[in-house]
Amino acid sequence: MNKLIGLSIILSLVFACSTEKHSSQWQSYSGDPVIEYKVDSVLSLMTLDEKIGQMNQYSGNFASTGAVSDNQSGKYLKKGMIGSTFNVFGADHLRMLQEQNLKYSRLKIPMLFAADVIHGLETTFPIPLAEACSWDLELMEQTARAAAEEATASGVAWNFAPMIDIARDPRWGRVMEGAGEDVFLATQVARARVRGFQGISNYRDLSKPNTMMACAKHFVGYGAAQGGRDYHSVDVSEQSLYDTYFPPFEAAIDEGVTSFMTAFNDLNGVPCTANNYLYKDVLRDAWGFKGMVVTDYTAIMELMHHGFARDLKQGAQLSLDAGIDMDMISEAFVTHLKELVEEGKVSEKQIDVAVSRILEMKFLLGLFDDPYRYFDAERQKQVVMSEANQSLALLAAQQSIVLLKNEGKVLPLSTEIAKKVALIGPFVDERESLNGEWAIKGDRSQSVTLREGLEARYKDSKVQFAYAEGTELPLLDRSTMKAEKDNQDAERGFAEAVKVAKASDIILVAMGENFHWSGEAACRTDITLPGNQRELLKALKQTGKPIILVLFNGRPLDLSWEAEHVDAIVEAWYPGLMAGHAVADVLSGKVNPSAKLVMTFPRNVGQIPIYYNAKNTGRPFDAKAPSDYKSSYIDVDNTPLYPFGHGLSYTSFEYTNIMLNAESFGKGEAVKLKADIVNSGDCDGAEIVQLYIRDRVASLTRPVKELKDFRKVVLRKGETKTIEFTIDEAMLSFRDKNRKQITEPGEFDIWLGASSDDESNRFVISFK
Ligand code: BGC
Repeated sequence: MNKLIGLSIILSLVFACSTEKHSSQWQSYSGDPVIEYKVDSVLSLMTLDEKIGQMNQYSGNFASTGAVSDNQSGKYLKKGMIGSTFNVFGADHLRMLQEQNLKYSRLKIPMLFAADVIHGLETTFPIPLAEACSWDLELMEQTARAAAEEATASGVAWNFAPMIDIARDPRWGRVMEGAGEDVFLATQVARARVRGFQGISNYRDLSKPNTMMACAKHFVGYGAAQGGRDYHSVDVSEQSLYDTYFPPFEAAIDEGVTSFMTAFNDLNGVPCTANNYLYKDVLRDAWGFKGMVVTDYTAIMELMHHGFARDLKQGAQLSLDAGIDMDMISEAFVTHLKELVEEGKVSEKQIDVAVSRILEMKFLLGLFDDPYRYFDAERQKQVVMSEANQSLALLAAQQSIVLLKNEGKVLPLSTEIAKKVALIGPFVDERESLNGEWAIKGDRSQSVTLREGLEARYKDSKVQFAYAEGTELPLLDRSTMKAEKDNQDAERGFAEAVKVAKASDIILVAMGENFHWSGEAACRTDITLPGNQRELLKALKQTGKPIILVLFNGRPLDLSWEAEHVDAIVEAWYPGLMAGHAVADVLSGKVNPSAKLVMTFPRNVGQIPIYYNAKNTGRPFDAKAPSDYKSSYIDVDNTPLYPFGHGLSYTSFEYTNIMLNAESFGKGEAVKLKADIVNSGDCDGAEIVQLYIRDRVASLTRPVKELKDFRKVVLRKGETKTIEFTIDEAMLSFRDKNRKQITEPGEFDIWLGASSDDESNRFVISFK
C-alpha cells in the first residue's frame, strides 16, 4: 500500500515536470542521472516556502543538547515545512510522525529522521574512545553496523556519527566520543565507522532498509578548543589543519560519507558554521564532497554570540553563502531565507542547490519509494538488543580495557587459591554511569555492574568478596554545570572500607567519573579522580595490602599518585551494557587484555597538551644528560605518565628477526620490513605492533614520531608469527608549505615497537 503511494508520487512527479535542469550548480552525490532527474523534477514543482522547509530541522523535544528553544515546529509541520527531525525513535512513533508530515506536505516529501547513535542504540557498546583502544578496525566496523541495524529498525535513517575530531586535551569532555590523538589511527577508525554505519558496499547505494547516512562531525578543529573548554575558540595553523585535523574528514569522504556537520567553534577568526574557506574551498572544491551539510545544534543562532552576525537573518545569509544545507534548530533559514531572496541578498539558485542535496539523500534512502520503509516494528523487535548484538557488546568491551600497570603480577586474580578480596569504591555497584554520557537509548538500568560481573565469574571458585563503598561518586548538577559538593561527611565510609580491607588478602577498588563528568560541555581543569576517591585510596594504602584499581571514566586522568602507590591499574572506560562481565573477564584472566591507549595520560594538567607526535623544538631536553636552557619543566618530567600506544598483557611478547630488505629506496619503490613476534609468556594473547617513522630533516618541521601502520597479532602461548610492513614513498610524505603532498629525499628513523615510547627497535632508511 505504502509502496504504491510512493511509486505513484514519483511517477506523477517525473512526468509532470519539465525536463529543464533547475539546479545547474548542483552536483549530485550519486552521479546517477536518474536520481538527478528525479530531484530536479521534484524541485521544479516546489514553491520557495516548500524548498526552505526542507532545510529546516528540529529535535524531538525530549532530547536537547542546547537551549530547548520555544520553537515553531508545530506551525511548520502544518505547512509541510520540516525537512528532518532528530532524536526521535521507534518504528510506531515515527510512522505516526511521518503520517502527519505527509498529510501536510503538498508534494508528499518524506521527512528524514536522524539521531545521535554514537556507540549503539539500545545495545550500548563501549564509548568510542574505549573502542578505539582495541585498535581493531573490523570490530569497530561491526559495532557501528550493529548500532545502525538497531537504529534503522527503529526508524532512523541518518546518524550524527562518527565524531572524528582529533583530541589532544583530556580536559575537554568530548574526548570520549572520538578515537584519540593520533591522525593515522583516528583516520582508519573514521573509515571503519563510516563503513559500518552506512552499511553500503557501493557507496552510492543507500537503498536497503538497513543502510543509513553517516555524518562526519564536527568540521573542524572542535577538539582543539582553547583550554579544553567546550565550544571555545580554535586558532590553529593551516599546517595543523592539513596534518592533524583534516585527514579523518577527507578519509570519510573517500569512504562515501553522505553528510557533514559543522563545528560550534570559530576557526582562526571565522565560525565554522559560516566558514567559506572550510565548506567551499576545502570541502566542496578541493575534496569534491557532494553530500549534504547540516549545522550543529543552534549553530546559526550562535553566530550572533560569536560576534560574526548582527542578527539571525544575517546568520542565515552567511551560513547559506558558506554552503550549509540544513539548519539544526536555529530556525534561521525557515524564518529569513524567503525575505533574503526577495531582497536579492541570496539567490533561489543557492537554495535549490541545498534542497537538491537534501532531496537526493531522501531519494537514495528510498524514502520517496516508501516513506515508511524504516518503520518495521517486527524487525525492530528482532534486531534491537538481539543476542548477537549483546555478545558483540561483550567482545567490544573486553577488547577495549587497557591494563595500565601490573606490578608483581597481582593480576589476574587467581581462582585456584582461596583469596579474600575486598571490593571497595563507588563503582562497585554503580550502574547508571557504565554506558557513558552518549548512550542515547541504552537502558542504564540494564548494564551489568562490576559486582554482578565478579560474582558471576567467581561463583564456583574459592574467591570470597567483602564489600564497602568507602565513598560516593560526586555528581554534577547539569543545570549549573557545577559539581555537587557534599563533602561534609566526606570520610564517613572510610573506616568501614579500611576494616573490610584489613580483613582481606587483596583490595580491588573501583573508581572513576560519574557519566555526567565527561561528554559534551563536561570539561575539567582538574583531571584527578573526582571528590575524595584519592583520599580513600590513601587510607586503603595504609593497610599495606596489594591494591588493584579499576577505573571507569571518559577521559585520560591524572593518575600520578595512583600510578606510584597502587599495584595494578585497569582502565575500563565506560564499557557499556556488558561492563561488569567484561571487566570480570579481564580481572580473572579469562580474557587477556590487549588494548592500548589512543590518548596520552599526562602526569598533571600542566603538561596538556601532551601527545606523542610533538615537534622536537630547537632545544630538546635529554633526560640522560639534563642541562639548563632546554625545553623542559622544573617541576615535572617531559614524559607522560602513560604514553600513546601503551597497554600491558598477562603474557609477554618478543620482537625478533627484524629485517629490512633494503636500507634505501627511490620513487616507485618500497622497502619491506619483516619481524617475528613471539608470545614468550604463560598464556595466549594479542599484541598490537606499532610502526613509527621520523623524517629527520624536512622543509617543514616534522614530529619526533608518527604512527604509520600497525598489526594486531593474536598469538597462542609459545606461538610465533611473522608480520610484514611495506614502507613506501607515501608513508614518508607530508604536506609542504603549498599543501602539496610530497616526499623529500633524506633519512628516516623507523621504529617497530609495543608503544610510542618503545625505543628498542630503531632502524634508519633513506629515500633517494
Ligand atoms: C552536538 C552534536 C549532536 C547534536 C544533536 C550537539 O550539541 O555537538 O554532536 O549531533 O547536538 O544532538
